[in-house]
Amino acid sequence: MMKPSYQDALAYYGVNGAHPGGLSLTKYLLQQERITSTTQLLDAGCGTGQTSAFIKKHYPCSVTSIDLHPTMIKRAAIRFQRENLPIRLLEGSVEKLPFPDGSFDIILVESVLIFTDIHRSLSELKRVLKPNGVVLALEMTSERDLTPAEQGNMRAVYGIDRVYTEGEWVRSLVNAGFTNVDIKLSHTVFSHMYANMEAEEEEMDFTVSRNMEMENKLSEHAQILYTYGNFIGYRVYRASL
Ligand SMILES: C[S@@+](CC[C@H](N)C(=O)[O-])C[C@H]1O[C@@H](n2cnc3c(N)ncnc32)[C@H](O)[C@@H]1O
Repeated sequence: MMKPSYQDALAYYGVNGAHPGGLSLTKYLLQQERITSTTQLLDAGCGTGQTSAFIKKHYPCSVTSIDLHPTMIKRAAIRFQRENLPIRLLEGSVEKLPFPDGSFDIILVESVLIFTDIHRSLSELKRVLKPNGVVLALEMTSERDLTPAEQGNMRAVYGIDRVYTEGEWVRSLVNAGFTNVDIKLSHTVFSHMYANMEAEEEEMDFTVSRNMEMENKLSEHAQILYTYGNFIGYRVYRASL
């Protein structure tokens, strides 16, 4: 059997809030946006659906959630049903979104794009965004160019192509057709920890049987955070057309 990916491990253990800052950071970002009963919101790469469920419970908008991983979709479906939340849930890729042009006012992407072909994903996000819409993307970002060996380690642990610097993310957003790109928040792994922004809401499902390969993957992730914490971090990019 193939070795599990980082995302397989997150899905297996049902890790919620699998992005820096967890649900607290998401809440903070949402407070600054105008969200009404006519707002169409997309949670792209929704994982277990924690963010989507929070939004549906606290805002009057329509929520659509999509993820590529069947286990994530299963977990999100169980959550939405258990909490009786009318959220439209689809299995699919952010690289080829099954929505017409101009469908959404707000698109949230929390630690997802880095796992995809970002040029394809960004052009899809732009396509499905309404002309006055906003993309909020919370993505891993390096503080400097990584050496080939460092990029190699990141590739091995996360199965990603490479980690982008802030400048590379902004350029990619601009090249995809976003004209206004702001950085809403900026942290390294360590500065994030010192700022006491640890995700209290991160949860895991311990009812599944233990799987050492999955656990090793999660340990590799923890190890990266501690060894690369000075020069790996994240940004929140707010992009509009
Ligand atoms: C680090 S998790 C973040 C999940 C969720 N946004 C959160 O913050 O808890 C990354 C998620 O991106 C999803 N993903 C990866 N590639 C994707 C793609 N091409 N299209 C849609 N979702 C994708 C994974 O299945 C996983 O659920």
